Amino acid sequence: MDSLILDSNTWLLVLTGAGVSAESGVPTFRGMSGLWEDQPVEAVASPEGFRKDPALVWRFYSERRKAAAAVHPNPGHEALVAWERHLGDRFLLATQNVDGLHTRAGSQRVVEMHGNLFKTRCSRCERPPFEDATVYPAGVVPECDACGKLLRPHIVWFGEYLDPADIQRIEDFSLRAATSGGRFVFLAAGTSGAVYPAAGIVDQVRKAGGKTWLVNLDPAENSSRFEHRIVGKSGEVLPTLAKLA
Ligand code: OAD
Repeated sequence: MDSLILDSNTWLLVLTGAGVSAESGVPTFRGMSGLWEDQPVEAVASPEGFRKDPALVWRFYSERRKAAAAVHPNPGHEALVAWERHLGDRFLLATQNVDGLHTRAGSQRVVEMHGNLFKTRCSRCERPPFEDATVYPAGVVPECDACGKLLRPHIVWFGEYLDPADIQRIEDFSLRAATSGGRFVFLAAGTSGAVYPAAGIVDQVRKAGGKTWLVNLDPAENSSRFEHRIVGKSGEVLPTLAKLA
């Protein structure tokens, strides 16, 4: 197996998806076959679904909060913490996961592209998102203290845009990495490469002259665009993949 050398010249951008949390016991999206209680996930993870039945949406996310609070980071998460400690500001982790396991493991330079299960925001007013681990009882839809309108999970739903500030952080990091005179490396782990813009990062990094790595259990949809491909579980592969120099 090739080694990923992380030395004082390396800038590393990591992208993670649901597969990285699979060994902690969080089901992947495609693994759930896109259904929750026989309904398409879009029914509970879209602005239309929230307008139609906010109580159902809150029941879905309350259940996911409960499940995510009960699991623990795995050796894949821990390996990324060790890499970040070694590289410092030359490391950035972009995750599509909303379970908060990366920060619980100790990762600090994290962009949560799809939001966070343990944050809530107002569906109407500008009140900033706030920490909220509440598991609401079935039928309860919390309301905003500031404006009285409905609160919603701080999650990027189907059909919604990513926060431009998050995209900017990833682009700024990539630009610094590409112009640093050092070695720019991108590694994606546990992601099916089906959802954009995350699935397109590999192309941008290649265009900028970076090296690309994929660690995934099954072939991802964008596999062929990676230079190094490792088939396996992230919790087994990541802890032994890097040589910290
Ligand atoms: P997916 O469920 O699409 O893909 C998970 C990938 O992880 C699959 O390719 C699996 O083969 C792989 N996998 C499973 N177990 C693994 C393991 N132990 N180690 C390594 N790989 C493993 O999840 P994502 O790619 O994260 O968006 O999905 C991207 C987005 O699609 C999600 O963030 C979600 C969904 O629409 C939103 O909610 C906005």
